[in-house]
Amino acid sequence: MSICRRGSFSLVFVSFFIMAFAALSFAEADGKQLWQSKCSTCHSPNLVKRHKNYPVADWMKTIDRMKSAGLQITDGEQKAVAEYLNANIK
Ligand code: HEC
Repeated sequence: MSICRRGSFSLVFVSFFIMAFAALSFAEADGKQLWQSKCSTCHSPNLVKRHKNYPVADWMKTIDRMKSAGLQITDGEQKAVAEYLNANIK
């Protein structure tokens, strides 16, 4: 009986870590999906295509301007979008 209880405890423990990791990697890494959803509410997300080979720091500043226009984005999401755009808008 006590072995059983310990077994289900570690199962809960392990699945907690898997869920926490999945949530974290979704928030930090999915720059493409964030860009498509967050950057299309005021204008076409394709506006980004005018900045080719734009450094991450400059994307951070551009997105700061979008924040003052009303964009809701966390720091982690902003970084993920900036890195995605830097790597993918060529
Ligand atoms: C709350 C509305 C809003 C949201 C959301 C928004 N923008 Fe904008 N964006 C604007 C406005 C207003 C302008 C035109 C004024 C300006 O350029 O500051 C603009 C212009 C731009 C431009 C063209 C100007 C330039 O500097 O080249 C780019 C690129 C851009 N946005 C990128 C983004 C990205 C990337 C996102 C998502 C992270 C985003 N925007 C989300 C309001 C928004």
